[in-house]
Amino acid sequence: MKSMFPYALILPLTLFSTTLFAEPIPHPSQSEQQRDQFVTSLLKKMTLDEKIGQLRLISVGPDTPKSVIKQMIEKGQVGAIFNTVTRSDIRVMQDQVMQLSRLKIPLFFAYDVVHGQRTIFPIPLGLAATWDTQAVTSVGRVSALEAAQDGLNMTWAPMVDVSHEPRWGRNSEGFGEDTYLTSIMGKTMVEAMQGKDPADRNSVMTSVKHFALYGAVEGGREYNSVDMSSQQMFQHYLPPYQTALQAGSGGVMVSLNSINGVPATANHWLLTDLLRHQWHFKGITVSDHGAIKELINHGVASDPADAVRIAIKAGIDMSMSDQYYSQYLPGLVKKGAVTSAEIDNAARHVLNVKYDMGLFRDAYSHLGPVGSDPKDTNAEDRLHRQEARQVAAQSIVLLKNWHHILPLQKQGTIAVIGPLADSQRDIMGSWSAAGVAQQSITLLQGMREAVGSSATLLYAKGSNITDNSKVQAFLNLYEPAVTVDQRSPQQLRDEAVAVAKKADVVVMAVGESQGMAHEASSRTDIRIPKAQRELIDAVKATGKPLVLVLMNGRALDITQQDGQADGILETWFSGTEGGHAISDILFGDQNPSGKLPVTFPRSVGQLPLYYNHLPTGRPYDFTHPNKYTSHYFDINNSPLYPFGYGLSYTDFTLSPVTLSSPTMTGHHTLAASVMVTNSGKRAGATVVQLYLHDPVASLSRPVKELKGFQKVWLQPGQSKTVTFTIDKNALSFWNQEMKWVVEPGQFEVMIGTDSVHTQIKSFTYQ
Ligand code: BGC
Repeated sequence: MKSMFPYALILPLTLFSTTLFAEPIPHPSQSEQQRDQFVTSLLKKMTLDEKIGQLRLISVGPDTPKSVIKQMIEKGQVGAIFNTVTRSDIRVMQDQVMQLSRLKIPLFFAYDVVHGQRTIFPIPLGLAATWDTQAVTSVGRVSALEAAQDGLNMTWAPMVDVSHEPRWGRNSEGFGEDTYLTSIMGKTMVEAMQGKDPADRNSVMTSVKHFALYGAVEGGREYNSVDMSSQQMFQHYLPPYQTALQAGSGGVMVSLNSINGVPATANHWLLTDLLRHQWHFKGITVSDHGAIKELINHGVASDPADAVRIAIKAGIDMSMSDQYYSQYLPGLVKKGAVTSAEIDNAARHVLNVKYDMGLFRDAYSHLGPVGSDPKDTNAEDRLHRQEARQVAAQSIVLLKNWHHILPLQKQGTIAVIGPLADSQRDIMGSWSAAGVAQQSITLLQGMREAVGSSATLLYAKGSNITDNSKVQAFLNLYEPAVTVDQRSPQQLRDEAVAVAKKADVVVMAVGESQGMAHEASSRTDIRIPKAQRELIDAVKATGKPLVLVLMNGRALDITQQDGQADGILETWFSGTEGGHAISDILFGDQNPSGKLPVTFPRSVGQLPLYYNHLPTGRPYDFTHPNKYTSHYFDINNSPLYPFGYGLSYTDFTLSPVTLSSPTMTGHHTLAASVMVTNSGKRAGATVVQLYLHDPVASLSRPVKELKGFQKVWLQPGQSKTVTFTIDKNALSFWNQEMKWVVEPGQFEVMIGTDSVHTQIKSFTYQ
């Protein structure tokens, strides 16, 4: 494919660099030269207004009805459309371009295909929990295929915003707290969705978001500001964006937050110096919804025209969902406040991606011939259920399995309780694209199918997701997402307790509604809502064995419930096939293999809490407690569940680490190996994780950093040697002068199946 990064680094999966180098100035490939010539000659034919038209990205909706869009298309005033998702609707607009507009520059069509289009896969946080690039590749390919078959050319995904803030609602859309894992997952998604070429019939172009640092908004408060050191930014937050762009992503969506006082949308350093000059990105930058206008609220623009001037000069090519560029750019150019070269530059980027989408060869490339549109866009045979079930099972993390309560037997009486047990909408998660709730399998449905007639299932809802009417209203603001049971909380609980009393074991589906883990859904209290906590208390009081099936889109504080439950499965929002997949795990038809991509705190008061923190001068040692050390006096320092953690129905043992040499020099590499053995009785998979630590450096370095992982599938008794290749980049960091350096000395290699329990070995770099 024509990479937006001609010098895309192809790095081995076991260990790859998450560094940020200025790329060498690339020589354009032959196809790029052809593209540049084509675009240059097209630009020569375009009027200023037509060029500005290309910069407008509109959402079809009440503000811009189809009749208005038709007029805009006719006059060349629109470059791309989003939120239209059927071939027939899209075809009408592309026909208008080809029949009515002067230059017949095709539109491109985009949508938020974040974790599936028609078939909904687990939310991205769940995808990260698979730690399996093959699974994520399958999600990317299926999503791209379904999106392309709906006529789409671009997706606003993947989101690679690293976040240490579970209070932030958009944790659900990203790949967790770690730079390396997020980089690998983002890269995998870009490569899978774009395929060999984003122009292909079954591929779409990606637009990586939200550039940049959106996951670090202060206090997890949505749309807030970010103030961060350069080291932190370059070491931990920027690599996933750069990696996704190096993988060839054609687009970048710019974030809504400010960075060290300058909103990303106004940030020339970010969008031009870094993105264009250092990273040589040639695709498009798109502002997020209404972001240009918001420059006034940020206090950096005096009026709309000023906001437009600042945004285009900073490097925003397309303005999303507002009329600002078309309204103000012509006047700004006339006045000389914006140059025609700046307009040409932005328009060139838009035309570049249209060229790479193959639209100038065939404006209907993703639409096919007239008459080929699906009769029923929601037809069952357009779904990919098998793939969804497989990936969802892999995303589930077994957090607790007291006395091997799991897997359950398909016998006796099982009570299924909880407001999420039979919610088709919630199991899909937020940003569920064109997914249809009625097509998703709930936990109750999945369990019913799994047990058939061999066990009795009893069901009670038990509570509403929340009894807080303000939160209910918030969740139902834009769609009737939460149905409120009018029975009193006591009536609901009584019914659940009665059901529990009749059962041998209770399975409770509890957590958040999908709308609680979404854009604009920050929380200060990350516990399971009170109504459900009270339900758990009541059911627990029956003394029945209790398995919690958590559905949620962020790390939660489940400290209290952890003490109550015998078994806990973290299932995220697992998608169209979620109910089948969770049942597969509950009954042992599949062995859980997911690992946490985020740290689970004991309390919201511990936040931010993440595994790769810096050491302190006064570390707390719980074996020798000392008052004047770094800790809270009312809670343990450690998380409830650490990053990388997850159990299995079998056991895995790791041999000590062996190194290919006690020393590593210059650009040579070092191999670190462990033998992993399935020492239990079932086939299963675990994730072998490599962490590195630089104990003495010119800057404090994190206590450990993930630098490699491999998911390993083993039969009972089977062993496999897992080898990681460590190179100089893996040891390097941004020093005080912002130079990418490796400092000679001792390094620690830690290998384990989570971030805490590791085998350690040291070597010297010289
Ligand atoms: C979100 C983006 C999304 C866009 C288009 C915005 O509100 O922040 O992530 O891609 O809407 O739907």
